[in-house]
Amino acid sequence: MNLQLELQSRFRAALAGMTTDADRFAQMVRPVGDAKFGDYQANCAMSLAKELKQNPRQVAESIISRLQADDLVAKADVAGPGFINLTLRPEWLAEQVRAMAGDERLGVAPVESARLYVIDYSSPNVAKPLHVGHLRSTIIGDALKRILTFLGHRVIADNHLGDWGTQFGMLIYGYKHFLDEAGLKSDPVREMVRLYIKVRQLTKPADKDDDLPGEEREKYTPEQIAEAKAVIAACREETARLQAGDTDNLALWQQFIPWSMATITPIYDRLGVSFDFFHGESFYNPMLADVVDDLLARGHATESQGAVVVFLSPPPEDGSEHKADAVIRKRDGAFTYTTSDLATIRYRAREWNPDVMLYVVGTPQSKHFQTLFAVARRWGYDKVDLEHVAFGSVLGNDRRMLSTRNGGAAELSELLDLAVEKATQQYRAAAASRGDEAPEIPEDEVRMIGEVVGLAAVKYADLSQHRTTDYVFSWDKMLAMDGNTATYMQYAFARCRSIFRRGEVDPAELRANAPKPGLADSFERALAIKLLQFEETIVAAAADYTPHVITNYLWDLAKAYSGFFTNCPVLKAESAELRRERLLLCDLTARTIEKSLGLLGIGVVERM
Ligand code: ARG
Repeated sequence: MNLQLELQSRFRAALAGMTTDADRFAQMVRPVGDAKFGDYQANCAMSLAKELKQNPRQVAESIISRLQADDLVAKADVAGPGFINLTLRPEWLAEQVRAMAGDERLGVAPVESARLYVIDYSSPNVAKPLHVGHLRSTIIGDALKRILTFLGHRVIADNHLGDWGTQFGMLIYGYKHFLDEAGLKSDPVREMVRLYIKVRQLTKPADKDDDLPGEEREKYTPEQIAEAKAVIAACREETARLQAGDTDNLALWQQFIPWSMATITPIYDRLGVSFDFFHGESFYNPMLADVVDDLLARGHATESQGAVVVFLSPPPEDGSEHKADAVIRKRDGAFTYTTSDLATIRYRAREWNPDVMLYVVGTPQSKHFQTLFAVARRWGYDKVDLEHVAFGSVLGNDRRMLSTRNGGAAELSELLDLAVEKATQQYRAAAASRGDEAPEIPEDEVRMIGEVVGLAAVKYADLSQHRTTDYVFSWDKMLAMDGNTATYMQYAFARCRSIFRRGEVDPAELRANAPKPGLADSFERALAIKLLQFEETIVAAAADYTPHVITNYLWDLAKAYSGFFTNCPVLKAESAELRRERLLLCDLTARTIEKSLGLLGIGVVERM
């Protein structure tokens, strides 16, 4: 049940005779910030009054008199300058709660017109181990895929691997100069990582590493810096040879790819993330020349000083330099990231004809996508909705990019191991301090709990931030037992479940014969409303591609549940009837937490 949408549609009908813009005004019906004003609030009267040049309180009164919502609204009052405060009928809420209990989808209707989304996420540059920078795209993209799919959309998950870039030149250079044959035989993946790290270290002195404080930056001798520059040039040469089709380099590349994937897929498996396609940059290589030719032929690109470029605006009138917006073929004949992305758009459009293409990629690439989309639209891809779902960085405790230096880990797999280890330790400590109250849990289940709770902590800490903000990575905060964390939600879930075990109640039977709760207690009522706001939450999270809307909701739901649980005895309720009604609220809370976490790619455990 989408409470907000239902109220909005009643308001739309009431507003229809008053303005031609009923839809816009109806959208001003929202949940209230403070429960003492009721359940929902409409603030459309003020802006409508301005338009009609009337008194806002009178406009509010006349909206109320036209409003046909007696079946669900118990009270509609005008407050302050013209707010309309709405209080919902408990019987109506109770009926919705009962319907929600009997529904597998917890009252969330599938969308009426399903769209086809292609989501481009994770997309790491392979040949080197994944690091924490790859985390956000991977888990935000995965959450969006789950949310959109649940709403009934079709989703194609495409991992646009960076499998064709400079890092392969580095690896080929390393292979040609520093290969350890024995190491290669015994563990090719480890050898590849070693080679990458070795070459990376050699090139390091030439880095313009703004991230390092001055004293660390200047510790290299001029000879080291000169050598680093020579190595970089040699690596670049290898990359160019690979991309030009050199047979030796191509053969090496073909050998490296499966090794790279062998370092990456276990991480995806562990995170529960999957893709429909892994069309990396190399996949598009054979199409790039044709993309450039086509853009030239249609007049969208021009040759300029030996390169092929795109101008998005006419030359400046004052005769100053006309700067190209994108280069699609460099002077040396090399194609660019933009060319490859244009080929990708064309391929996806032809192959799948999606309604939307989402790119879950960090904010630093905003300019790239802005230009890319503008060129693509000009090229004829103007029906498909192209969106850059941008996100900020994960920072260490010194507010620089997270790394080994400031509280993170060098590689993503180590970071996940560390999270699981910390979660397991914390669980053991908490269980020990609870003494007899803690369930006696066998060792393998403890390990399973540690795995689920540890990975959840990392994901939730990330997803609970608005995706566009940077956030500081903190083990203590993400593993906290109370506060808006995965651990807290998982614990709330396990507690709901334990009530059923202790009371020996079968939740399936309860759902099948769901009672209609009286909701006489204000804490019951508040919990019921929160539960019924599940659908509008998911719809809002999908609308702006913002998973944190779901974690905010979970936090509110957990607080409502905690208020209910402290004030309303469940197993010891005054009557058998009330006991069943409250058990139903517990069960719905557990299911809603489980489903919400599930949409974020986070699991639960039955007990902890
Ligand atoms: N491989 C790129 C990187 O790591 C991200 C690719 C994003 N997707 C795309 N179609 N450009 O920066």
